[in-house]
Amino acid sequence: RPRVLSGIQPTADSFHFGNYLGATRQWVDLQRDHQPFFFIADLHAITVEHDPKVLRERTLRAAAQLLAMGIDPARSAIFVQSHVPEHAQLAWVLNCLTGFGEARRMTQFKDKSAKGGEGAASVGLFTYPILQAADILLYRPHYVPVGEDQRQHLELTRDLAQRFNSRYKKTFRLPEPYILKATGKIADLQDPTKKMSKSGSAPNGIIEMLDDPARSAKKIRSAVTDSGTDIRFDPEGKPGVSNLLTIYSSLTGESIPALEEQYAGRMYGDLKKDLADVVVGFVTPFRDRTLELLDNQDHLLQVLAQGAETAGSVAESTLRDVYQRIGFVAPV
Ligand code: TYM
Repeated sequence: RPRVLSGIQPTADSFHFGNYLGATRQWVDLQRDHQPFFFIADLHAITVEHDPKVLRERTLRAAAQLLAMGIDPARSAIFVQSHVPEHAQLAWVLNCLTGFGEARRMTQFKDKSAKGGEGAASVGLFTYPILQAADILLYRPHYVPVGEDQRQHLELTRDLAQRFNSRYKKTFRLPEPYILKATGKIADLQDPTKKMSKSGSAPNGIIEMLDDPARSAKKIRSAVTDSGTDIRFDPEGKPGVSNLLTIYSSLTGESIPALEEQYAGRMYGDLKKDLADVVVGFVTPFRDRTLELLDNQDHLLQVLAQGAETAGSVAESTLRDVYQRIGFVAPV
């Protein structure tokens, strides 16, 4: 079975609709006929200032949410990145293979360091995409299911894999990004030309999966729509309405043309009211299930330990190959 790998940062109390529809829902779907590795990227979470107690909590909340949405530990290795030390170890090797200018071209560093200026950003934030490349290459996956915003990091990953393979010996598989056209970029509800984002969106622009469902309903009802009145899928001309149709379609399985037909001649308010109900129907059981899982932390830790063991044996064998090929003397 082809392998898939992906990760998510524990940098918020809740995943949002962009994370779910853009990425983690595909994780759940792909686990059926792939060999999956999914992890919580706590090493990445410390590239910006953080509170240790909050990070610990959010890591467990992330694990509970992944299980609640259907990641099945019997099929998937689900683990915490820092439990598998090879991630940091391979990252060092890849750091030494990456050009400074090449790292500099990564646009997320520019975006994320924009506020305090580049001088205030950590070196970890700068080398973040190289750690991500290590995360991926360790497991030699065929596919990496992510949102559109990760495409550039995937390209760097492939470049580094190719460079290592040609400089030393063929060691890494060149992974393919698995990015869905329909949901690869879920937009901010208040500013639909931007992506929904935990750091960049205003509170009303983002639907959090663990938020009070009534509040999420209200956010949908007050989403920014476009000028005009017709309910039509046109991401360029009508980004607000199109985003709502995308969310609607992906939560219900109804196609966009079917929704356009259903709402022909009706008002934006009708669409928003119906979508608000759909959202409440979806997040309510998800939230209950997550809170239930969070009540049994021993079970969560057990699942994560088992995942780290599975992942660790794969990671260990890849790193051994890498160390040997770059000329490190193996310990006896
Ligand atoms: P993170 O934690 O920011 O986001 C997790 C996943 O959610 C996707 N996503 C979106 N998709 C569609 N629309 C949106 N508005 C939206 N917002 C977020 C992201 O693309 C991502 O797939 N660097 C990664 C974590 C990571 C990783 C990895 C991923 C670390 N190592 C190795 C894959 C492989 C990140 O920050 O994701």
